[in-house]
Amino acid sequence: MEVFNIIDLEIHGDNRGSLISVESFTEYCPFEIKRVYYIFDTKCDVVRGEHAHRNLKQLVICISGNCDFILDNGVEREIIKLNTPSKAILIKDMVWREMTSFSDNCVLMVIASDFYNTNDYIYDYGEYLREVKKLKGEKV
Ligand code: TYD
Repeated sequence: MEVFNIIDLEIHGDNRGSLISVESFTEYCPFEIKRVYYIFDTKCDVVRGEHAHRNLKQLVICISGNCDFILDNGVEREIIKLNTPSKAILIKDMVWREMTSFSDNCVLMVIASDFYNTNDYIYDYGEYLREVKKLKGEKV
């Protein structure tokens, strides 16, 4: 799917442990970082997300534990297992996402290209499909 990339982040490790750094305007984070948030204490069977963004890029990293990240471009759906702090998903705009199967200790960190803005959200899957079709110039 062209709407996201899986990235192996560089680990700076030595005998004291490991460190990963994320900077703006890099190959793996090609936008200015304007917001960071993280999700934790989510029950295993809960489904989060269930929305798309009209104009937001995000880098998602599961910094502790594991969870499933579902990405949907309106045509196909992929499930990515996030289970290491060294793997990131770079998500472009107009991607429907859902997160589920959270482990007890899961901390999901999201690095975003813009401030929180509810107007940028599409919360309804039918509306998302209509907007995807419009962008492709298809009849809705
Ligand atoms: P929500 O969008 O429902 O989270 P998720 O997509 O993971 O299911 O956000 C949960 C709450 O947090 C909701 O009240 C909105 C608030 N929130 C902020 O205040 N700032 C933010 O940057 C985000 C992402 C959410």
